[in-house]
Parts: sequence; structure tokens; C-alpha cells
Amino acid sequence: MPATLDLHEEILALKKARNAVILAHNYQIGPIQDVADFVGDSLGLAYHAKATEADVIVFCGVHFMAESADVLTTDRQKVILPDLAAGCSMADMATANQVEECWNQLSQLGIADRTIPVTYMNSSAAIKSFTGKNGGTICTSSNAKSAMEWAFTQGEKILFLPDQHLGRNTAVLSMGLSLSECVIWNPWKPMGGLTEAEIRNAKVILWRGHCSVHGRFSAQNVVDVRTRIPGVQVLVHPECQHEVVSIADVVGSTEKIIQTVATSPAGSKWAIGTELNLVQRLSRTMPDKEIVFLDKTVCYCSTMNRIDLPHLVWALESLVEGRVVNQIIVAEEVRKYSKLALERMLAL
Ligand code: 13P
Ligand code: SF4
Repeated sequence: MPATLDLHEEILALKKARNAVILAHNYQIGPIQDVADFVGDSLGLAYHAKATEADVIVFCGVHFMAESADVLTTDRQKVILPDLAAGCSMADMATANQVEECWNQLSQLGIADRTIPVTYMNSSAAIKSFTGKNGGTICTSSNAKSAMEWAFTQGEKILFLPDQHLGRNTAVLSMGLSLSECVIWNPWKPMGGLTEAEIRNAKVILWRGHCSVHGRFSAQNVVDVRTRIPGVQVLVHPECQHEVVSIADVVGSTEKIIQTVATSPAGSKWAIGTELNLVQRLSRTMPDKEIVFLDKTVCYCSTMNRIDLPHLVWALESLVEGRVVNQIIVAEEVRKYSKLALERMLAL
């Protein structure tokens, strides 16, 4: 029997023994998805974490997702991240101190009380807590438009953290704002590198963060693939740069990407701009369609890829032996307001 099949069987037995569920993100490798109880995008995973009654949630994704699961579950339940090195470089681009400093500066200008933080799920629990404390909400790539619409009923301006691209794409392409109404806050510069007039005139202040995986796709990739494959449709994640998203045929979360391709007719041609594991799986499982990666250079999310069967087996075996390893625990003082911000999102 191949080694992966052995591990597969072992994982199924171990999770049953410990009343555990495995939640996996759409970017996870095939062998992990095969043993998962639920596979989905960030929003679907948050709903599942909140709904499950299992004693243990083994989260096969990245750190901020596991933190959110811990916030949304009860004290009785434990959340485990099989490899603690599975982080997200975008989430690391906004620290709690930097965000507090930005807020202080907006307060000094007298505009913080009219500004609503809208924070992408890809952020630390501390920043989610800041968001909840200051009247804001969390969003994912599936509901960023609803989150912005809600925020504009609560205030005049949005501070969008930490992904400038999702913020800009939503503000301009979904909400109809102009590019000039969005400014970028650079946390490494005094006053975010902006003038007082720029801050006052902006409708959306975008944090200077981005995803290094999605940042690779360029408008030239779109032009090239349209020349190479006549009739191809370009389908991208909203973490891509604005010049890419604005000329794509379809834009959406990882789940929307999957559903769009799955429901398209046989013979359709798709060039997809998102993480490579997902694109490769779509191409493998839907051979009646032509599915290619938007860029010619391969690009995985290296941190999502940290989660593999050996780490998962180790985490589950440890649990069965009575040792809880790699538990993600959000500190009590952070939990209250990050929960408020997450619950606001789930109610949108
Ligand atoms: P989704 O919410 O679309 O699954 O995206 C999460 C993510 O990290 C994409 O890079
Ligand atoms: Fe973070 Fe980008 Fe990886 Fe998504 S693809 S988890 S945003 S680094």
C-alpha cells in the first residue's frame, strides 16, 4: 500500500478517536483535502468553525484562519494548526502597533470617529480586536462589498486593512468609487506618507499590504494568454493588482473560482490567477475544460504548503497520546473584540 494511503487511513482513525474535525482551505494539497471534513474558502471555514461541535478542530490552513476558528469556538474546543510556520506574509504586513499608530494620527486629525475599519480576514487576531473595538467589521474576499456598504452606513470613511488590492478592487470595481478617492497608508512613513488634505479627501484609506503570491500576476499575463489561447476567459482572485482585476472576465474568492469553472460548459477555456495547487487541482479534476495558470512561472503559497500529512498525523497522534501540540489560543483580552468584529461579518 502506498505510504500516503497508510497515513490517510491512520488520520481517519485518529480523528475519530479524538472527536476531531479537519477543516482545510482550498489551497491545501490534495492528500490533506482528501482527509478533511470540510474544504472551502476563508468565509466557509469561519462558518464551519463556528458551527462544529467537535472537541478538536485541526485547521489545515494558515495561522490567521486558525486564530479566527479559536475565537469563534467555545472554551471547551481546541484548535490545532499542524505546522506553526504556516503563516501569511500579507497578515504580517500590519502589526497591532502600526495600526494603533495610524489610528492615533487619524484621531489627531479629528477623523477617526468618522472612519470605520474594515479588516480582511488575513490579519492577526490583535488587528481584528482593534477593528471590533473601533466599530468595524472583518471581511473576506466573498463579502468585501457587503462589508464596505455596511461601513458606509456607519461612517464616512473606511480604513481598509491590510490588503490594498482587495480594498481598491472592491472600492472601485464593486462600489463605483474612483481611484483618486482611495489613498495608500504606508506604515513606515510619518502620517502614512500622505498629506492632511489627501487623508481628509479620501473615502478609503488602504493599508500598504499585499499578497506576494497574487501580486505576481500582471496585465501583460492577461494580454499574453488571450493571444496564446483564443476564447480563453480570465478568472482571478481579488488579491490581484487592480490592473489585472479590472481587465479580467471574472473575479472572486477561491470558492467562487471553483464554482465558476465547475459550472462552465465542457470545452470552456480558463486562465486562472490564484494559488497554483488550486489551479492544478481544477485542471486535473475537470479534464473536459482547458484550464491554465495565468502566469508562466509557477507560484505556490509556500506557507499553505507547510501543512502536509506527516505534520497532520503527528498532531493527531499527539492528541490521542494526551499531548496537545500546536494549539492556537487567542489571548482573552484580544478575543472579546475580535469575536465582535468576526460576528459582525458573519451577520452581514
Ligand atoms: P479566500 O477567502 O478566497 O479563500 O482567500 C484566502 C486567501 O488567503 C487567498 O489568498
Ligand atoms: Fe496569505 Fe497570499 Fe498565501 Fe493567501 S496566498 S495565505 S494571502 S500569502
